[in-house]
Amino acid sequence: MSGPTRVPGLLYGGDYNPEQWSEEVWAEDVRLMKDAGVNLVTVGVFSWARLQPGPDTWDFGWLDRLLDLLAAHGVAADLATATASPPAWLVRAHPEILPVTADGVRLEFGSRQHYCPSSPVYRESATRLARKIAERYRDHPAVVLWHIHNEYGDHVTECFCAASAADFRHWLRDRYGDLAALNRAWATDFWSQRYGRWDEIEPPRAAPGPVNPTQVLDWRRFCSDALLACYLAEKAVLDEDGGGIPVTTNFMSMFKSLDYWAWAAHEDVVSDDAYPDPADPEAHVAAAMNYDLMRSLKAGRPWLLMEQAPSAVSWRPVNVPKTPELSRLWSFQAVARGADGVLHFQWRASRAGAEKYHSALLPHRGTGSPQWDRTVRLGRDLTRLAEIAGTRLTADVAIVLDWDSWWALELEDHPSSRLLLRELTLSWYGTAYVRNVTVDFVPPGADLTSYRVVLLPNLYLTTDATAAWLTSYVADGGRLVCGFFSGIVNEHDHVHLGGYPAPLRDVLGVVVDEFWPVPDDASVDVVFGDRRVPATLWSEWLETGTAETVAGYGSGPLTGRPAVTRNAHGAGRAWYVSCHLGDALGHVLDEVFADAGVRPVLDVPAGVEATRRDGPGASFLFLLNHRDAGTELPVPDGIDLLTGTALRGTLRLPPLGAAVLKTTHPQPER
Ligand code: GLA
Repeated sequence: MSGPTRVPGLLYGGDYNPEQWSEEVWAEDVRLMKDAGVNLVTVGVFSWARLQPGPDTWDFGWLDRLLDLLAAHGVAADLATATASPPAWLVRAHPEILPVTADGVRLEFGSRQHYCPSSPVYRESATRLARKIAERYRDHPAVVLWHIHNEYGDHVTECFCAASAADFRHWLRDRYGDLAALNRAWATDFWSQRYGRWDEIEPPRAAPGPVNPTQVLDWRRFCSDALLACYLAEKAVLDEDGGGIPVTTNFMSMFKSLDYWAWAAHEDVVSDDAYPDPADPEAHVAAAMNYDLMRSLKAGRPWLLMEQAPSAVSWRPVNVPKTPELSRLWSFQAVARGADGVLHFQWRASRAGAEKYHSALLPHRGTGSPQWDRTVRLGRDLTRLAEIAGTRLTADVAIVLDWDSWWALELEDHPSSRLLLRELTLSWYGTAYVRNVTVDFVPPGADLTSYRVVLLPNLYLTTDATAAWLTSYVADGGRLVCGFFSGIVNEHDHVHLGGYPAPLRDVLGVVVDEFWPVPDDASVDVVFGDRRVPATLWSEWLETGTAETVAGYGSGPLTGRPAVTRNAHGAGRAWYVSCHLGDALGHVLDEVFADAGVRPVLDVPAGVEATRRDGPGASFLFLLNHRDAGTELPVPDGIDLLTGTALRGTLRLPPLGAAVLKTTHPQPER
């Protein structure tokens, strides 16, 4: 099967910033890339000032020579449109392109990502550069992927300048049509905020007290769309002049500011930058969640890990390196969850600049170093996994993720400011992860027919259409597990009246009378049969209608009231979890998974991650040992592609060890 570009096998390499080095160094670079098995480098990400030294002067000579050199050595290029860092001359000629913060500070030149997404000058300049690059290099043999911009929303996710305000008003006019509709949606009779003219509306700048929540929610939607408009302007250029080469822009994992469902729809290949912290012993769980999201953004199509650190980063307060084993294990983890490439920031460690202490494939010390050995080893390993490119995972379980609801949940002045969607989702995801149950993410309205179970860690903002979608999923035989504080408001952040969670009450068979958030450092007991577990963050005065009680509160003012319920609805069942159970959510999910016939990929010891990618005629079982101790596990017969060894029934994994087992016999139905 083939991967996301015309390069065969898995992709390996990283960001390459040759402008930081003399051309003699380039010759060494390509030679060493070959030694390491590198087959793709990302070029030009921060090259704008070099490529366009003045308004009408261009210098492509160096990039011509570089791309020729790469092509001559069989290294492909992911060529950037170079638009993430506008040059000084452009900023000085048009200081209005610099972004402005909520309290009115215009951010200066001297770092990167210094542009206002709504600036017409920025957008025109960026698309002009993208067109020059596309026209010049679309037929170049090295170029296999276009890389638009870099990490949209990194550093600057919103700008509060006059151009942004004007753009926001346009966006609001498109959304609401007339001011009466906006006044209704924003509930402007509250605190005398009624608008009589469009030009009275401003972005939610620093204000004396809480800003209108619907205004803030619309602002979040607008900011994601404003950056998306920048992307789409460049994408249109590449669609026209890019020679049919696939297009990507690198995402930043589960990133709150950008609605990646909307973005991914316009990408040919999803790519992601992921920097799990080696100092965090649980970092691999959040990494797995991010990778599953990336795979899900284009309905299971292979994606690219566009950037990871070979070892330490340089931007945390304390930057702990990865051991060679950890670096290798975490690289396989991305492939295990659907990546067809493992790329890094960056190829050669910078000598100067803000990132000189960031690890690289080729470290400051050069080749005779353990860091370089690690680089060569990973290249060899990925070559051995070449046949995995293009294969896919399947999941029986889906988690609903919706950016609108994320933004709304985290608005101010809620019963608790401690509810953060990423953390809630990670807690639910982690409960499935430790059971080695593969999970996809889906947006509201997605086709759920292939999923036995749908998890809803939180969907604070639930439209009537989304509630109907979930209800019919259950009526048709699905299993839904719904977390607390879901189904509370509509698309305008207005409360659904009549008892929470009004639009989901039928399917869940419960009504919530009042929210009882749990103070920091406190907990309440929840009783499952003869087991008592602590719940933190949140609890609710819950009443059952048609639902039955699965667990009840066992301490505090809600003692004796239901905490977790189950409701038969049509041909399916819906569970409601009114408190934050942490790991104890496993008591609920074990019941749900058993009820739905959801099985782990493989029964393995705790700490071992198992996933499976399937291709025509073969399956590839990834077994990753995240523990510091060795382990032995039962496996089907097959060949470990990393060692070439035939395995018969048992596998020994060293601490932080990995195996990729190729099996050709049919896998049991899950
Ligand atoms: C991001 C950027 C890179 C680099 C790395 C460092 O992912 O895209 O340019 O700054 O972080 O970790």
